[in-house]
Amino acid sequence: MSCSIELKNVSQSFQSNCSDSNSCESNTSKNNVSTITLFENLNLSISQGQSYAITGPSGAGKSSLLMLLSGLEKPSSGQGCFNNDNHTSALDNLRSEIGFIFQQFHLLPELTALHNIALPLKLRGDKQAIKKAKHWLAKVGLSKRANHKPSQLSGGEQQRVAIARALVFSPKFIFADEPTGNLDQHNANEIADILFACCQENNAGLVIVTHSNVLASKAQNIYSLANGELTKTNASLITPIFEEQQVEKVVINTAQVAPC
Ligand SMILES: Nc1ncnc2c1ncn2[C@@H]1O[C@H](COP(=O)(O)OP(=O)(O)OP(=O)(O)O)[C@@H](O)[C@H]1O
Ligand SMILES: [Mg+2]
Repeated sequence: MSCSIELKNVSQSFQSNCSDSNSCESNTSKNNVSTITLFENLNLSISQGQSYAITGPSGAGKSSLLMLLSGLEKPSSGQGCFNNDNHTSALDNLRSEIGFIFQQFHLLPELTALHNIALPLKLRGDKQAIKKAKHWLAKVGLSKRANHKPSQLSGGEQQRVAIARALVFSPKFIFADEPTGNLDQHNANEIADILFACCQENNAGLVIVTHSNVLASKAQNIYSLANGELTKTNASLITPIFEEQQVEKVVINTAQVAPC
C-alpha cells in the first residue's frame, strides 16, 4: 500500500531581533524585528517508493523545507499532511515512520556507534536491536568501529553511523540532509548507492538535499529551491561536469551493495 506526504500552500518565515541597524533589511519593523521569508505558498507532494533530490544555493531554505516535509517542524502557514490509502492525517503522526539523516549528524555522544544505530530499534522494543544494528554497521563498512563513540570517529564515519541509524528500522520515508557532504567522492558514491538501493528494496520514499549534481542526478525527481521558488528540474539539464571529472576513475558496482 503506497502513501504520500503533501505540503499545501506552505510558507516559512523566521523573525529575529535586529540589533545592528546597519545590517537590517527593509522588512524590519520599528521595534527592530526583521522577518526572513524563505518561501510562500509552496506545494510539494512526495510518494513512497520514489526518490527526490532538492538542490539550491546555501541559505535558500532546503534544510528548512526538509524539516517541514518530515513533520519535524511546522510551517508558519499552510498545511502538511500524510495520505495513507484514503486516510489523511497530520504529519506529526509520521514520526515513527521516518528516518532522518541530519546535516550535523546529531549522534548521541555518550553512545557507541553500535548503540547509536540500535537506539531506534530499542525505542520500539525490538529484541533483535543489537543484531540488526551490527548488520547495518557492516553494511556501512564500520564493523571495526562498533565500540567507538562519535568523538572517536571522523566526520565521514559519523555520517555513515547516522545513515545506518536512519535506515535500521526500515522507515517508509528517509530524509537526508547533505548525506554525502563530508565524504570523499569514492565514499560518497558508495553511501549514495546504499541509500538508493535500500530505499528501493524497502519501497521507501527518499528525499535528499544536496549541493552535489552527481548525487541529485541519481534521483527520479529533481527540484531546485532558489529565491523562494521550488522548480522541478529536468535530469538532463543537470550537468555534473566538475564532479564527473573527479569520479571518472571510480567504478561503481551497484551489484556489490548488500541487500537490506
Ligand atoms: N530557526 C531559525 N530561526 C531563524 N532563522 C532561521 C532558522 N532556521 C533557518 N533560518 C534561516 O533560514 C535560512 C535558510 O536556512 P536553511 O538551513 O534552510 O538553508 P539551506 O538551504 O539548507 O542552506 P545550506 O545549503 O547552507 O545548508 C538561513 O538564512 C537561516 O539562517
Ligand atoms: Mg542546509
